[in-house]
Amino acid sequence: MIALVLGEATGWLVAALVAANISLPYLLRRRRLAPHGWSLPYLERMRPHYWIGVTIAGLSLVHAGVAMSGPMSRSPGYGAGLWVATGAMLVAGGQVMIGMRLRSLRGSERLRLRKTHYRVMAMLVVLGLLHVALNGALPQSISRIGGLA
Ligand code: HEM
Repeated sequence: MIALVLGEATGWLVAALVAANISLPYLLRRRRLAPHGWSLPYLERMRPHYWIGVTIAGLSLVHAGVAMSGPMSRSPGYGAGLWVATGAMLVAGGQVMIGMRLRSLRGSERLRLRKTHYRVMAMLVVLGLLHVALNGALPQSISRIGGLA
C-alpha cells in the first residue's frame, strides 16, 4: 500500500516539476518573475531551471524504484508502458547533460543545441503522457472494470 501511494506521489511530483521547468525559461525570458533580478543575466536567473532539471532526473529514479516494488498489473500494454518509462528516465538524464553543455555555449552552436534541448523536452512530454496512459491508476482501473487486468 505504501509503495502504491509513494509511487503515485513521486510520479505526479515528477510530472508537476516537468511542467514547471518547461514554463520557467519562457517566464524568465519575459522577466515577469524577477522583480529584483533585472540586472542579473538570463542564465543566472535560470538557476532554478537547472536545479529542477537535475531533481527531475533523480526523482524519476526514485519513482521507478518505489513503483517497481509495488503490485504489477497484467493488463495489456502495462509491460510496454514500463519500457516507455525506462526510456523517459534515460531521456531525462540526457536532457540534464544537454542542459549543462547549453549553459556554456554561445552563438550558433548554442542555438543548435537549444533546438535539441527543446526537441528532447517534447520527447520527454510524449513519453511521460504515454507512460501515464499505459501504467496510470485511472487506465488501470478502467481495464480492471473491463476485465482486462
Ligand atoms: C527535464 C529537464 C528539463 C527540461 C524539460 C528543460 C526544458 C527547457 C526548455 C523548454 C527550454 C526553452 C528552450 C527554447 O527556448 O527553445 C530550456 C532552456 C534552457 N535549459 Fe532546460 N530543461 C531541462 C533541464 C535543464 C538542465 C538540467 C539544464 C542545465 C543544467 C538546462 C539548461 C537550460 C538552458 C541554459 C536553457 C536556456 C537556453 C537559451 O535560452 O538559450 N535545462 N529548457
